[in-house]
Amino acid sequence: MDLGLRGKIVLVTGSSKGIGRSIALAFAREGCQVAINGRHTRELEQAASEIRAAGGTVHAIPADVTEAEGARHSVEETVRRFGTIHVLVNNAGGIGRFAPFEELTDDEWLDVFKLNVLSAVRVTRAALPHMQKQKWGRIINISSESGTQPDPVMPHYNASKSALNSLTKSLSKAYGKDGVLINTVSPAFIRTPLVEEMFTQQSEARGVTVDQVEQLLLREFRPNIVLGRAGKPDETAGVVVFLASEQASFITGSNYRVDGGSVASL
Ligand SMILES: NC(=O)c1ccc[n+]([C@@H]2O[C@H](COP(=O)([O-])OP(=O)(O)OC[C@H]3O[C@@H](n4cnc5c(N)ncnc54)[C@H](OP(=O)(O)O)[C@@H]3O)[C@@H](O)[C@H]2O)c1
Repeated sequence: MDLGLRGKIVLVTGSSKGIGRSIALAFAREGCQVAINGRHTRELEQAASEIRAAGGTVHAIPADVTEAEGARHSVEETVRRFGTIHVLVNNAGGIGRFAPFEELTDDEWLDVFKLNVLSAVRVTRAALPHMQKQKWGRIINISSESGTQPDPVMPHYNASKSALNSLTKSLSKAYGKDGVLINTVSPAFIRTPLVEEMFTQQSEARGVTVDQVEQLLLREFRPNIVLGRAGKPDETAGVVVFLASEQASFITGSNYRVDGGSVASL
């Protein structure tokens, strides 16, 4: 199936590892020119080398997208290097401190919203004019199952991802007329460095292997994942690439769940 993505220019924020890196690699394999981003140069360069080794065209942009300047710079640098931007994937995100409501401070709430919401707002603000001018654009916001089905812990993270879902819907209604299609992809429990770190901590704390931890955590915290395993980053990347493609030309304002069946709603 021709996805019609050859030559398209793509920026994926937070793409030096994890889901973002898989997404960047998947776009490169479709013949896109890909700008990748992260704060740490060494990991970013490693990801760039991996994409080049796979035959892709890549430009690495070290920047912190929680800073106004970093968010703007990531788009400006993509346009300076490749000429425009067709596809933006707002992937940079994180959970903040794993804690119940009563322990979370105002600053922790603000930091999580800065990372999961305001960064997407700022990067989108910088990218939209280019998409409007060419009457073609795709924005895919990486949310989470917990934006739809919040857990009792990490309410700051859950609320920030719900806000991102709402942002997606608003913007899809505002900019569809300009040919800019905006959707959300909501993964759950994907084995990325973020989750691997948690597995390692738990394996040390419980004195069991990392694979045993995966099964224990699935039983204790994720019994709803009907497929009975954690997901792989590539399983999210495939949906993102599809949503950017010509095959998805009548889809906007949707939320695609990549959660192994976890979310209970229809
Ligand atoms: N893994 C899961 O199970 C899961 C489930 C649901 C949703 N998600 C969502 O999927 C997205 C990716 O998660 P992941 O698990 O792949 O995370 P990850 O393994 O921790 O990778 C995060 C990436 O974002 C970059 N990053 C973090 N903060 C940044 C900042 N301020 N500015 C620029 N880049 C930044 C990191 O590089 P640097 O540290 O070098 O900046 C890294 O490249 C997030 O939005 C997350 O909420 C993940």
